[in-house]
Amino acid sequence: MLSAQIQLASYLFASILFILSLGGLSSQESAKRGVIYGIAGMVIAILSTVLGEGVSGHIYIIIAIAIASVIGIMVARKVEMTAMPQLVAILHSFVGLAAVLVGFGSYLDPKTQALAGAEHYIHLTEIFIGVFIGAITFTGSIVAWGKLEGRIRSKPLLYPGRHVINILLVIICFVLGYFFAVASGTSGMIFLLIMTAIASFIGVMLVMAIGGADMPVVVSMLNSYSGWAAAAAGFMLGNDLLIVTGALVGSSGAILSIIMCDAMNRSFWSVIFGGFGDAPSGPAMAVEGEVTAVDHEEVAQLIRDAESVVIVPGYGMAVAKAQFPVFEMVEQLKSEGKEVLFGIHPVAGRLPGHMNVLLAEANVPYDIVLEMEEINDDLPETDVVMVIGANDIVNPGAETDANSPIYGMPVIQVWNAKNVIVMKRSMATGYAGVQNPLFFKENTDMLYGDAKDSVSKINGFLKNLN
Ligand code: TAP
Repeated sequence: MLSAQIQLASYLFASILFILSLGGLSSQESAKRGVIYGIAGMVIAILSTVLGEGVSGHIYIIIAIAIASVIGIMVARKVEMTAMPQLVAILHSFVGLAAVLVGFGSYLDPKTQALAGAEHYIHLTEIFIGVFIGAITFTGSIVAWGKLEGRIRSKPLLYPGRHVINILLVIICFVLGYFFAVASGTSGMIFLLIMTAIASFIGVMLVMAIGGADMPVVVSMLNSYSGWAAAAAGFMLGNDLLIVTGALVGSSGAILSIIMCDAMNRSFWSVIFGGFGDAPSGPAMAVEGEVTAVDHEEVAQLIRDAESVVIVPGYGMAVAKAQFPVFEMVEQLKSEGKEVLFGIHPVAGRLPGHMNVLLAEANVPYDIVLEMEEINDDLPETDVVMVIGANDIVNPGAETDANSPIYGMPVIQVWNAKNVIVMKRSMATGYAGVQNPLFFKENTDMLYGDAKDSVSKINGFLKNLN
């Protein structure tokens, strides 16, 4: 058994490791170190909690941890990189559910019932707020999972007066909170249950009102909500480490949401209140021009003749797992003295940093991976841009078509380059479901096929062309 002082010291140490972990995760070079700090912090956190005073039934805890670890390892090994956002969303829902269950457990705990005076009211407030945030996080994350998995339609569910209804529901929850606090014994349970149902409904409605193109912000917002739910659970359990960890996740998720909002050109406040992905008010702009297709040999010849090449990867590169042959191609082109750069859009793929993770996996050096703002300036002087499995993030309609659902989102202006090759399997739309006028531009050619297959074929031609 650990004494209270040693437990406190361990919690402090674990908190420092979590802060170092977040710091490490902020850049690709230090990301691995960040993950190791995080794992070490979590091991210390679990051990010092389980071995702390007042914890009994260790055998059950060990069995639960063992079962959960086996499930966790199995899921993590099996999950495809492309399904990562869904996994993250469903894991957020577990945090929300945990906060709700801790809230109910804490309310029924005889120790809670024995509290008196201000302490009693403060604890009931903690329970009520914790369950409220937890329920919203739980159902909101399940809806986000459904949308990302394609089980729930990604079109926003918009109905008149939804903001007024949401506000009314929040007011009703406040009133229920009052009755919950003044109820005697455990008779407040009925108010807690009604509030949980209403908060669960709010969670569903907030995320249902958000359109597909805006899901990146939802994922990071739910990340933040799950942190606040964990912090609330920390207050209910009187666990300082959970409060600190929850606050770290909550605030870092909120900062990430602000960054994502900037990237999508959306207002942060409208995200928090949901329903900001309003449907376009008119028909999409008619697309002009013709689509031209090229074959692998022609593309190989084009990049062989080029002096500068920019690669813009998107979700399709993740689906095809094309990052490895892409790295081979980059090495080949660099060995021929060409300038090769990557342009990364902040919401490329389905997760913040999705493309950076894939490129790091394939050992692409970080110094040739540039962000959207940096690469956009270079594009007018670029000979060839290869768009690999990307679509929405290179859609000029985001700048020119006020009726496009992605209107206003900054995009990588690949059409400014001398030649653009778009590598995808068909003329299908991307995540936002909008037609892409880029494909019809005069300086754009389509190379149809699976991205991995296409890049491997180009590599073959590059080796044989002299
Ligand atoms: P998308 O717009 O989704 O386009 C990806 C394209 O890849 C598709 O048009 C698809 O066309 C192609 N593709 C799929 N499998 C392929 C394969 N095996 N080989 C070659 N091409 C393949 O992706 P994006 O440009 O990366 O934009 C991201 C979108 O996702 C944005 O709308 C963003 O808002 C949204 N989103 C982002 C996030 C985060 S946080 N990044 C989270 C949720 C949603 P074909 O079917 O014709 O091949």
